[in-house]
Amino acid sequence: MDKALAGVKILDMSRVQAGPSCAQLLAFLGADVIKVEDTVGGDNTRWEQAHIDGVDSVYYTIFNNNKRAITLNLKTERGKQLFEKLVLWADVVLENFSKGVMERLGIGYSRLNEINPRVIHASIKGFGEYGPWSDFRSFEVSAQATGGAIASNGYPDLPPIPSPIGAGDSGTGLHTAIGILAALRQRDNSGEGQHMEVSMQDGIVNLMRYRLIRSLSIATPNERPGDRGGRGIPMIYPCHPGGSDDYVMIHIAGALWETVLAVIGRSELIGDERYFTEENRAERGDEVLEIVSGWTMKHDKYEAMRALAEAGVWCGAVMSPEEVLSNEHLSAREMVVDVDDPKRGTYQMIGCPVKLDKSPVEIQPAPHYSEHTDDILTEMLDVSPDELPNLRRQGVIV
Ligand SMILES: CC(C)(COP(=O)(O)OP(=O)(O)OC[C@H]1O[C@@H](n2cnc3c(N)ncnc32)[C@H](O)[C@@H]1OP(=O)(O)O)[C@@H](O)C(=O)NCCC(=O)NCCS
Repeated sequence: MDKALAGVKILDMSRVQAGPSCAQLLAFLGADVIKVEDTVGGDNTRWEQAHIDGVDSVYYTIFNNNKRAITLNLKTERGKQLFEKLVLWADVVLENFSKGVMERLGIGYSRLNEINPRVIHASIKGFGEYGPWSDFRSFEVSAQATGGAIASNGYPDLPPIPSPIGAGDSGTGLHTAIGILAALRQRDNSGEGQHMEVSMQDGIVNLMRYRLIRSLSIATPNERPGDRGGRGIPMIYPCHPGGSDDYVMIHIAGALWETVLAVIGRSELIGDERYFTEENRAERGDEVLEIVSGWTMKHDKYEAMRALAEAGVWCGAVMSPEEVLSNEHLSAREMVVDVDDPKRGTYQMIGCPVKLDKSPVEIQPAPHYSEHTDDILTEMLDVSPDELPNLRRQGVIV
């Protein structure tokens, strides 16, 4: 069966998370992605954090499935020549270098457009390509900091806390994927490529829309909500047996309060004026916590979740990352899968959250460093196999 993005060809020059996560998602949906890496070790994530048996880190494998990988030294004439041939092949060139790098390499958008006017140049920058901060480098936590996310997280009287979610990096990857698909759609009509850019800070601001409602409307100073959520009502309740992740999240809004009371055996409080409105419950938050905890502490988090969820309450067991990896629901949805790799062995991998009936996703292992260089050069770029040792000696490829 043809995949949704069959025929879409992407040159992925990106590193770390923001760009690689974008290209990986498009690869899951069927795009042909070639990852282009430098000749001095490639994507920084290959050697960062935990390694699978000494071959590449999980930080790398988790963002680079379903791609091919080539090395090319773009600071050599021959390397650049070969890259330009790949630009002729490509529909999209994706990169997340700091501002000015592509121009210094001589492959800024004007050059890419000269080589292939149909090509889409997708550029991710920490603060975008214009504006007073556009020269600054950035990563996940700087994007969260400058997008308002960190100041909104944590407890009122304590320092603010970054979020563990990859909103700055993978969130930017998602925004970029949407931009690429839109640019491809526009090209269907116009026949022309274009330059597009996504700023990580802008991406966070976009994802912060909900949290900005308060500042845009009642203009009260920002107050961190701690564990009580935006409405000031407790959300996190302790469960049996009391371990560090033994909690259940319960949304006690509107009429759900009455359902919760029925489930926890406190129906006598239904209609009680002390807790009737959300404002009442926020004012008496400590009492709400005590009432609900009296029941949750007698159940483990999964029992509590099931009883409440079956009654229609919006809730969730607070699962540790390890529990996520062994969760039967996520396995049933192919969000946690096993991948086989001849060198790395069989390892667990995260699946694709977008499910298209007509474009099923098969998770393939991330490519090893320079794994497809010879094949791509000889099969796609007319390089003679005899030239490969020379290219290696001259440092053009690895
Ligand atoms: C991620 C980031 C902080 C890393 O900064 P950095 O390590 O200083 O890297 P830069 O992007 O500035 O530069 C990359 C260098 O590698 C070189 N390089 C990259 N690929 C190459 C290749 N195939 N061949 C030769 N050189 C290559 C570039 O030419 C550049 O060298 P230069 O500084 O001599 O111009 C920065 O790139 C950045 O802010 N990117 C945008 C935001 C972003 O994506 N952040 C990370 C989110 S996960």
